Amino acid sequence: MTGTVMAGGVTQTLSVTADSRPAVEAESLAKSYGDVQAVRHVSFTIAPGEVFAFLGPNGAGKTTTVRMLCTLAKPSGGRATVAGFDVARQPKAVRRRIGLVFQEQTLDDRLSAEQNLRFHAVLYHVPADQVEDRISRVLRLVALDDRRHDLVSTFSGGMARRLEIARGMLHTPRVLFLDEPTVGLDPQTRALVWEDVLRMRTEEQVTIFLTTH
Ligand SMILES: Nc1ncnc2c1ncn2[C@@H]1O[C@H](COP(=O)(O)OP(=O)(O)OP(=O)(O)O)[C@@H](O)[C@H]1O
Ligand SMILES: [Mg+2]
Repeated sequence: MTGTVMAGGVTQTLSVTADSRPAVEAESLAKSYGDVQAVRHVSFTIAPGEVFAFLGPNGAGKTTTVRMLCTLAKPSGGRATVAGFDVARQPKAVRRRIGLVFQEQTLDDRLSAEQNLRFHAVLYHVPADQVEDRISRVLRLVALDDRRHDLVSTFSGGMARRLEIARGMLHTPRVLFLDEPTVGLDPQTRALVWEDVLRMRTEEQVTIFLTTH
C-alpha cells in the first residue's frame, strides 16, 4: 500500500459537475411589507443536485423567501439567482426552470390525477410529443401510476401531496421548490414523501429547495 497522508483524518473530496454555477444563490435577500420585515437579509448558496432544507418557525419568512426565489414577490433588498438567472431581472428565464409546490393544496379535486397533470402540461408548454412520457414517468416516481384515472377527491392527503410533487416535476425543472411538503402528514406518509423527493433528485438530477419547521 502506498502511504497517504491525511491531516487530522480528513480526506478532501472534489466533485465536478457539468454546470458548476450554483443552482440557487441568495445574497442579503430581504423583503418588507410596510413595517414588517418578513425576510431579513438571508444569504445561502445551493449547489446543483443538493437537497436544501430551509428551517424556521411560523412567520419566520420561509414562504416569502420561496415566493421571491420563484419570482412571485419582488425582493426589497439584496439579490438572488436561480439556475444562473436573476430573479428580479430575468423572471421569465427563472420561471421556465423551476417547479413549485405550494404550502396550500392547489389540485382540482373534480379532475383525475392525469387530467390535473395534462392541465399543467398545457400551462407550462410541455411539448405535445413529450406529455404522455412525462405524465407516466412522474406518476411512477411518486408511485401513483395505478391511481392515474381516479378523481383527486378520492385521494388521501398524502396521495394528493405526492401528486402535487409529481406535477411540480412534469416540465423537467432544474430546481424544485417545496413549501412545507410534509406538513399535516402522518409519520409514515411523511417518510414516503421524503423517499419521493430523494428519488426525484437522483433520477431527474433536480436541485431541491424545501421549507420545513
Ligand atoms: N403579503 C403579505 N403582506 C403582509 N405581510 C406579509 C405578507 N406575506 C407575509 N407577511 C408577513 O411576513 C412574515 C413572514 O411570513 P411567511 O409566510 O413568509 O412565514 P413562514 O415562515 O412561511 O410561516 P409558516 O411556517 O406559518 O408558513 C409574517 O410576519 C407575515 O405576516
Ligand atoms: Mg409558510
